[in-house]
Amino acid sequence: MNSKILYGPFSQLLTMNGLPLKGPLKDDQLEILTNAGIVTEKGKILDIGSYSELENIHSDAKKKLVGDENLVALPSFVDCHTHICWGGTRVNDYSMRVAGKSYLEIAATGGGISDTVAETRKASESELTELILERTQKHLERGITTIEVKSGYGLNLEDELKMLQAIKKAGQQTSVTLIPTFLGAHIKPKDFDGTHAEYLEYLLEEVIPIIVEEKLANRADIFVEEGAFDIEVARIYAKNLKLKGFDITMHVDQFHPGGSKLAIEEGCVSADHLEFTDAESCELFGRSETVAVALPGASLGLGMQFTPCRKLLDNNACVAIATDWNPGSASMGDLITQAAILGASEKLTIAETLAGITFRAARALRIEAGIIKKGADAKFTVFKTDDFRNVFYQQGQLKPSATIIKEECFEF
Ligand code: NIG
Ligand code: FE
Repeated sequence: MNSKILYGPFSQLLTMNGLPLKGPLKDDQLEILTNAGIVTEKGKILDIGSYSELENIHSDAKKKLVGDENLVALPSFVDCHTHICWGGTRVNDYSMRVAGKSYLEIAATGGGISDTVAETRKASESELTELILERTQKHLERGITTIEVKSGYGLNLEDELKMLQAIKKAGQQTSVTLIPTFLGAHIKPKDFDGTHAEYLEYLLEEVIPIIVEEKLANRADIFVEEGAFDIEVARIYAKNLKLKGFDITMHVDQFHPGGSKLAIEEGCVSADHLEFTDAESCELFGRSETVAVALPGASLGLGMQFTPCRKLLDNNACVAIATDWNPGSASMGDLITQAAILGASEKLTIAETLAGITFRAARALRIEAGIIKKGADAKFTVFKTDDFRNVFYQQGQLKPSATIIKEECFEF
């Protein structure tokens, strides 16, 4: 049976092809095909181009999305930093924060991440799997087809493994790609009897070998911050993980500068947060392969300054944008809304914002995604509009009408 499908016609088709990985982008650098179509076969992109030409060349293809309305097709989005495996809620933290208490104050008095650790430890693996799947469905409806998901609310052998198993099981039950990251080094848990360095040794000796054996993750993260882990212990941890073949990413410069320098020195695939990144580190990013990941959802959730994306891009950094979706600092989870608000505030071109949630976000995960080109997996998302800029202009209010993942077409 012929499995060719012709999608379109699209008033605009943005491929995101041929753009540099790093540095500033102008909107007129974007490849925009008009009256275009996409032909897929067995889940791959077979052809792209003029819709009427594709109709002739692939006259045997089944047609989908045909209609009178204007449609725009974009590569589907990549959310390269989330914590969507969690139990419970932190609405109490939120009400305390808006009443004036800071995130670090709440954490220092035993709340914050520790509360979610207690709730996540109580949840079963299957409950966590369900919660991840619910959140993944919301992301699919937002046009996101790749999601990085961190552990980090278990913080002991049993519960970290439970989280990673839940992420794996959820990944087997959805067409969205879930990429696991081990964040056992989120904070030192309250019930660990020892120093921060000893806790990291425990992770390296007792937890990570099992993660490697069971192939549960090949990426690891650490939160470098006051009250979490300092630069010295994080450096030793990162060096050890690299020897074990892990890609390393770090939560850095969220409240104080300094951690991003460590992330760059240790060759991390990405350094995330960066709200307090200084001018020197912005320059270092430009000369490195480490992706700078902005998390506007955390700035909005905590009422704090945004990551200096304009400065990073002008220094030739690779800048990605992700939601950081978690119950504490970033409870919204809406990537387009957050990227649009960040773009307006930081003066990013629409091309830079779009690159930040497509191929540049894929680079943070060291995967190929976020580009529409022949031979790639068919992953694209469709909006009912005649101008792709409306996706950002409407700041999240224009939702996708369809998202294609390989052989499946999800219509909303
Ligand atoms: O990226 N800052 C560290 N970790 C998360 C927040 C986790 C939480 O508050 O539950 C973040 O903001
Ligand atoms: Fe985070």
